[in-house]
Amino acid sequence: MGVPKAELHVHIEGTLEPELVFDLARRNGVPAPAASVEELRARYRFTGLRSFLDVYYANMAVLLTEQDFHDLAAAYFARAAEQGVRHAEVFFDPQAHLSRGVSMATVVQGLAAAADEARHLGISAGLILCFLRDEPAASAAEALRLAEPFLDRIVAVGLDSAEAGHPPSGFVDVFATARDMGLHAVAHAGEEGPPEYVREALDLLRVERVDHGVRSLEDPALIARLRDEQVPLTVCPLSNVRLRSVDTISEHPLPRLMDEGLLVTVNSDDPAYFGGYVADNFAAVRSGLGLSDADLRLLAANSFEASFLPEDRKTELI
Ligand code: HPA
Ligand code: ZN
Repeated sequence: MGVPKAELHVHIEGTLEPELVFDLARRNGVPAPAASVEELRARYRFTGLRSFLDVYYANMAVLLTEQDFHDLAAAYFARAAEQGVRHAEVFFDPQAHLSRGVSMATVVQGLAAAADEARHLGISAGLILCFLRDEPAASAAEALRLAEPFLDRIVAVGLDSAEAGHPPSGFVDVFATARDMGLHAVAHAGEEGPPEYVREALDLLRVERVDHGVRSLEDPALIARLRDEQVPLTVCPLSNVRLRSVDTISEHPLPRLMDEGLLVTVNSDDPAYFGGYVADNFAAVRSGLGLSDADLRLLAANSFEASFLPEDRKTELI
């Protein structure tokens, strides 16, 4: 189960295991995306972010009802509890469901019901509404408008999907609106995109955490800034290997980020696709990078520190 930790970078749709894809297809009377679980899993060999996203969006077509979103999140929280997770801030992609005719209420109420039940597993949870950066900003603004009745269930907004060619600068207005509504802000940046996108996320979107951010290492002045301001990075080691940002876990830059004094956390991203949940990522960096127990304890403490929990709850958990 490992050390108690928070998970701050997990896409709930990325926890959709192949078995659940088939169960939901059957329950909803819709076609499954492959002939068998084995055939589906065999497609999980990715050449980069775009090739993964194509499978990720295709599979989520089986998510239709509030019960489906509940069952998806309940399965994640059960796995997370086994992995030592005590707090989770979970991304969801409403535009990917709205475009299929699934309402915001269906998505948020299903996820929120599972989050409430997770309290019995010793997990507190918040939802992060992500905008799809490869869709127009007007579509993001419409998603935020539709989320207004559910703001008490949403802790932050985020920015995800295909990064290259879709800089944060396109989403200044919708992030400003979200911050005015009292939501926190995070964004994927520096996963496949350049360090400049990390700067834009900080300066233009005013994000409080950077999701991934590993390419910041190409820019020493940016690294100095991330250190000075203690901007948290939610790093996802197994994801970076499976999406070919690094060849092997032993070459992952996590130790360099830690040596630079950055507030780094370790997370699973899309665990149903990338070969492991959060404790599996901790185990992978321990064996693949030779991190010590003290390093792992620091990463776990960072995960609470970087969360949007109230300070008194952070102190309790660290
Ligand atoms: N990166 C960007 N967008 C995403 C990811 C990811 O790893 N997973 C789901 N949406
Ligand atoms: Zn991600």
